[in-house]
Amino acid sequence: MSILAIFPASEPDLSIPEIVRDYSKISKILEGIGVTFERWDTPAHLSDHSSSGEILSAYAKSVDRIKKENNFQSADVVSLTPDNPEKEAFRGKFLKEHTHTDYEIRFFVDGCGLFYLHVENMIYGVLCEKGDLISVPANTTHWFDMGSKPFFKCIRLFTDPAGWVGHFTGSDISQKFPDYDEYCENIK
Ligand SMILES: [Fe+2]
Repeated sequence: MSILAIFPASEPDLSIPEIVRDYSKISKILEGIGVTFERWDTPAHLSDHSSSGEILSAYAKSVDRIKKENNFQSADVVSLTPDNPEKEAFRGKFLKEHTHTDYEIRFFVDGCGLFYLHVENMIYGVLCEKGDLISVPANTTHWFDMGSKPFFKCIRLFTDPAGWVGHFTGSDISQKFPDYDEYCENIK
């Protein structure tokens, strides 16, 4: 079940977040801050062993629509499993607050991931699960946590891979909010 937890940015330790579990409500709240949140059905013929090509062709209709809407040039599939020896390095890459000059779009073919969006004086923690698509607009401050035992398979879309480089704000705000493991334990 996808979950949205909304915190005031100023008092992460003292505040009790507003929790939203209803998909259409999550989608509507995120739309208000310019973030797209959609749910796509899983094609019946996909399995855990499907190749990247099979995944992209299974979701071709939806991927093409998103590509046209945003002028994306390419799409790929990225995955990570808990037995990956470099999981800590991958996890650390986008764990601090940053922006991109391009949209960051993820569709969760499988698994989970936690996006935190920092918009004005609020923090939106979006736990994405299988079937969820989230798009973080260009220049929106955010961070991403895949947890200590990362498991996900995602479609990514790009206009230009260079636009997807992280520009770090230097803030330590991400350390003040529940990480993926704490979020799943306490909020889920
Ligand atoms: Fe990012």
